[in-house]
Amino acid sequence: MSRKKITFNQIICKNYRMEQIVRTAQRIANSDTIVLITGENGAGKETIAQAIHYASDRANNRFVSVNCAALPDALLETEIFGHEKGAFTGAVYSRKGKFEQANTGTLFLDEIGEMSLTTQAKLLRVLEERVTEHIGGNEPIPIDVRIITAANQNLHRQVKDGSFRQDLYYRIKEVHLDIPSLRERKEDIPVLVNQFIKIYNKQYHKAIMGISDAALQFLMRHDWPGNVRELNHVIKCAVLMNESQDMIWLEHIPLDIHLADSAKSKEEKTETRADELLEILTLDEAEKRHILRILEFTRFNKSQAANILKISRPTLDRKIEKFQLHNIKVQEKIIKPGY
Ligand SMILES: Nc1ncnc2c1ncn2[C@@H]1O[C@H](COP(=O)(O)OP(=O)(O)O)[C@@H](O)[C@H]1O
Ligand SMILES: [Mg+2]
Repeated sequence: MSRKKITFNQIICKNYRMEQIVRTAQRIANSDTIVLITGENGAGKETIAQAIHYASDRANNRFVSVNCAALPDALLETEIFGHEKGAFTGAVYSRKGKFEQANTGTLFLDEIGEMSLTTQAKLLRVLEERVTEHIGGNEPIPIDVRIITAANQNLHRQVKDGSFRQDLYYRIKEVHLDIPSLRERKEDIPVLVNQFIKIYNKQYHKAIMGISDAALQFLMRHDWPGNVRELNHVIKCAVLMNESQDMIWLEHIPLDIHLADSAKSKEEKTETRADELLEILTLDEAEKRHILRILEFTRFNKSQAANILKISRPTLDRKIEKFQLHNIKVQEKIIKPGY
């Protein structure tokens, strides 16, 4: 995660639940409440945590982030609490922990569900007493730190099965923000896409005007296991790979999304009853739509489209004429980011 300051202005959403979350986060930002943010990977937990920090009166002090899943237990403890010289083999110097580094600022404990029960007990003590101690030392160090933690949605299950302390759970969820996955708030996709187009236009000196309707529909159908992080990446690639300098077309959407999507539609076909899938179309209408999709896929490169459709170029021209598809490129609904 970059160290660029994130503010609430950069958190884009349209979904009602998401708007409520952002509103709550704004309301409690300037207080010392301990916040638990749950949600899937890439849903925006750290982004919200940073926005809270930078909207608080601690904004000029540090936002320190620790990923509890990244370190083995003993190392995590020395990382968080610091250690004295000689606390363990190799501890030649004493070292400040993240709690001290974050003093007067905010400490973000990511993936807190991965913390061992012993470390959890130590953390609980720090939260209750507002003092920390180096590993191998016994000097209490007073700290003034705002704590924000993040976890996936299994944390409450971990409390039930005993791998996460119940008392700590209640202590860290003074305010609980549960961020929905992107697939539960697909109305956020178009606004996020526009935001990312703007960001990457700037970064890569491009002038992409928007995304085609078909490409957007495609993104709306995807399940987004990697949530906003995945969408961000897809748009970044689409802007970067875009040589046309005009629009994001279906062909700019990376192949792995296409593959995931076709796997999904196969699944749907086996799971869904045939009559639910059936669209009542005339053969002409179905043909027209299919030709349009292929034309869009090839960005109206007719020879390529004819090749894919396995018809001759004059046949394609006749069909374009018949279905009046000539001007479709300009007629097509185009979603433009607002500059
Ligand atoms: N609501 C949002 N608006 C704009 N960008 C977002 C939003 N939520 C997430 N992002 C972006 O998505 C990426 C992943 O977000 P992050 O906060 O790191 O997710 P998490 O901590 O849940 O894994 C980041 O690049 C972030 O900027
Ligand atoms: Mg994260």
